[in-house]
Amino acid sequence: MQPVDMLIKNAKVVSPESTIDACIAIRGEIIVAVGAEEAMPPAKQVIDAGGKYVIPGAIDSHVHFRTPGYEYKEDWYTGTGAAARGGVTTVLEMPNTNPPTGTVAALTQKQEIAHSQAVVDFGIYGLLDENNIDILEDLIAGGVSGFKCFMGNTFGNLPAPSDGAMLEGFEILAQHGMRCTVHAENPSIMARRQGKMEKAGRTDSMAHLAARPAVCAMEAVSRAAIFAEWTGARLHIAHKSSADGLYFVRDAKRRGVDITVETCPQYLLLNTDMMQALGKEGGIMRVNPPIREPGHEEPLWQALLDGTVDMIATDHAPHSPEEKTRASIWECDCGFPGVETQMPLMLTEVNKGRATINQYVAWSAANPAKAWGFYPRKGVIQAGAEADIVIVDMNKDETIDQGGLFSKSKITPWHGRKISAKPVLTMVRGRVVMQDGEIIAAAGTGRAARQQMPAPKPRNLDKTTAAILDYKA
Ligand code: DOR
Ligand code: ZN
Repeated sequence: MQPVDMLIKNAKVVSPESTIDACIAIRGEIIVAVGAEEAMPPAKQVIDAGGKYVIPGAIDSHVHFRTPGYEYKEDWYTGTGAAARGGVTTVLEMPNTNPPTGTVAALTQKQEIAHSQAVVDFGIYGLLDENNIDILEDLIAGGVSGFKCFMGNTFGNLPAPSDGAMLEGFEILAQHGMRCTVHAENPSIMARRQGKMEKAGRTDSMAHLAARPAVCAMEAVSRAAIFAEWTGARLHIAHKSSADGLYFVRDAKRRGVDITVETCPQYLLLNTDMMQALGKEGGIMRVNPPIREPGHEEPLWQALLDGTVDMIATDHAPHSPEEKTRASIWECDCGFPGVETQMPLMLTEVNKGRATINQYVAWSAANPAKAWGFYPRKGVIQAGAEADIVIVDMNKDETIDQGGLFSKSKITPWHGRKISAKPVLTMVRGRVVMQDGEIIAAAGTGRAARQQMPAPKPRNLDKTTAAILDYKA
């Protein structure tokens, strides 16, 4: 038998359906066999997993790596290095950089940066906004993995498109089978409320939630789902934060709308009591959508368990400590880093019995791979797949220390939180990029993840903006 390049032995190989004691044989970038040690070919290099769980690398559908434009917050080396630390082997990066990724020139610029700095694989989101509907097809041809529509304002203050532009954008994306992620919050409700609260002199951290109640998200989720159903566009709901409105998602899925949903560890594990406990430093937990009152966490867990929510993402949103700790909540930048801590936090919950490791692998790897057209090339450990593999230690008691983050953003609400599990080795396409916390891959070894979305299923084609303009009386 021809020797393979690498063999991972003594592994507990996890998929959504099963956990098997097996070896993994890798040739070049590809897994060529998973099976009993006796059946494996000889290998040039052997990694002994020592009986640990070996899982597909996580695919994080929501990160902000800030470059170009805000390099002091994060760049593609520190962002993807943080990902590798966290067992994340593919990231989808958001367009609210400067320039925003809403033109072909900006996309090309970001692709060059990503190719030269990344240590994990990536996809790049194009922006869908009021003024770029006519070039969405150019962005698709340029290689975006999906689109992001900021229905509500957040960092970068990109204005929400009008409903007219959004619907027209969805008409176009539907015909290409592309998925559009929405930041679903209603901007006019939020602006009005924040204005009133600022006028009233509120600067405390609880004012942030009061300005962005869950009805903002409910309304925007339902509006986006209506547009997706009408056009046949594929829709992804970013950072589902509240119990409210889960029934809209359930209903849309039941009706056959291609809608996928992510939630994040912060909405499963944090609440405003913890934000209040931070006192003057409550801004550390300021994020959009906001951390909710106690009581939303459990329904979100249930929604993951019953499949209403498909996946775990992080909304990795790095800012500097100074930007996160200003006196007024309105002055604190929204978001915090997360790509590095998601897997330890979630596996710690697995250790507590909240979910099985198989369910976790569905949420972190298999489901995002399916939603974004990476499956079965990514998101699964089986012959033919790319060797994006993470060895996890499920018996590692540690405390999260923000000073030790690989991200430039050394401030997180997870600081001081106890974890009992973490990734100890991350491999991207057969290359070890992280071992025992050290990033050992060179910048520029990550590449654009190859995507194959299922066939488009556009609807109401006779009523699209293009179709009505074509009408001849
Ligand atoms: O809090 C947030 N910060 N939410 C977002 O949606 C964007 C993010 C950022 O880019 O900082
Ligand atoms: Zn975000």
